[in-house]
Amino acid sequence: MDEADADIIADLRGAGLVGAGDIALEPLTGGVSCDVWKVETADGPIVVKRPLPQLRVAAEWLAPVERGVSEVRWLRRARGVDARIAPEVLAELATGHAFAMRFLPGCPVWKDELMAGRVDGDFAAAVGRGIAAVHAATAHSDADRDAFPNDEMFRALRVDPFLLYVADHDIELAPVLRALADDLSSRKIALVHGDVSPKNILVSADGPVFLDAECAVYGDPAFDLAFCTTHLLLKAVWSGDARLNDAAALLVDAYRSGIDWEEPDGLLLRVGKLTAALLLARVEGKSPAPYLTDPEHQRIVREQARALIVAAQPIEALVANWKRTSA
Ligand SMILES: Nc1ncnc2c1ncn2[C@@H]1O[C@H](COP(=O)(O)OP(=O)(O)OP(=O)(O)O)[C@@H](O)[C@H]1O
Ligand SMILES: [Mg+2]
Repeated sequence: MDEADADIIADLRGAGLVGAGDIALEPLTGGVSCDVWKVETADGPIVVKRPLPQLRVAAEWLAPVERGVSEVRWLRRARGVDARIAPEVLAELATGHAFAMRFLPGCPVWKDELMAGRVDGDFAAAVGRGIAAVHAATAHSDADRDAFPNDEMFRALRVDPFLLYVADHDIELAPVLRALADDLSSRKIALVHGDVSPKNILVSADGPVFLDAECAVYGDPAFDLAFCTTHLLLKAVWSGDARLNDAAALLVDAYRSGIDWEEPDGLLLRVGKLTAALLLARVEGKSPAPYLTDPEHQRIVREQARALIVAAQPIEALVANWKRTSA
């Protein structure tokens, strides 16, 4: 056990979450940006998460550890909207913005379900409803805006690596991508989770549970729907499974039903533009989709994404026209 681990255990004792006996920190999967452990306690298992000062990816991608604070705030706020959609935060710990939350037993990660061919359209719709519920509850709220002043972090972790990095390497698309980045950064509409990827969603009996809100920001809700839709469309190319296109359509449709804070058509056009850019970023950017290694899959995504960035379609049309193969 290193010194930091000992600090975490001392913090857990201090918070009254564990007693004086032996405590094991069992690492959980993941961990690109954080240490994540499962810890058994007398009151059941908990998860302890501690942000790393530097992400474990190839690019030198620094992020302030304060993002642990944003995550805790998002989890608490989302539970206030609907207690089923986020794990309960049990304590904020003194060491490095670590925190403890309740462990949800028997809940697979949605990504693993999708990759195993278990594609549930109803669940995709529930994801859309969950994201929209948080957006609707926080839209045009000064209190929420003040609680998530994380523009700098969102720029460092989302706008720069996903939009501007690609712009810097693509002369033709650079003006459109830069305009998109400016537009995204300028909108302060609702509380954005910032990392709504299937790998950050647990499949519980009560529907989706959203994790990993380190990039939370008060910004453009279009980003969350675009981020999640992008993952489903990439997986459709990877697997060739039409049910993933259907899941993306159900996700978007359910989200649309929850929009009550602005005119849906304008929002869904922004989602379409962002999705096109994020699709390209997942084959050309700093954070490529790890499973999209087949050059043919990359080509299918790249060609469609580049055309879609220029065409600027609403997300419903983008999803309806998305091709899994080049045939
Ligand atoms: N409350 C929880 N209950 C059950 N499992 C959890 C919980 N929190 C996290 N996990 C598990 O730990 C994994 C990593 O958690 P999380 O996504 O928050 O951390 P991360 O370090 O940001 O991971 P990554 O960089 O891989 O996205 C999740 O995919 C999930 O399997
Ligand atoms: Mg994660």
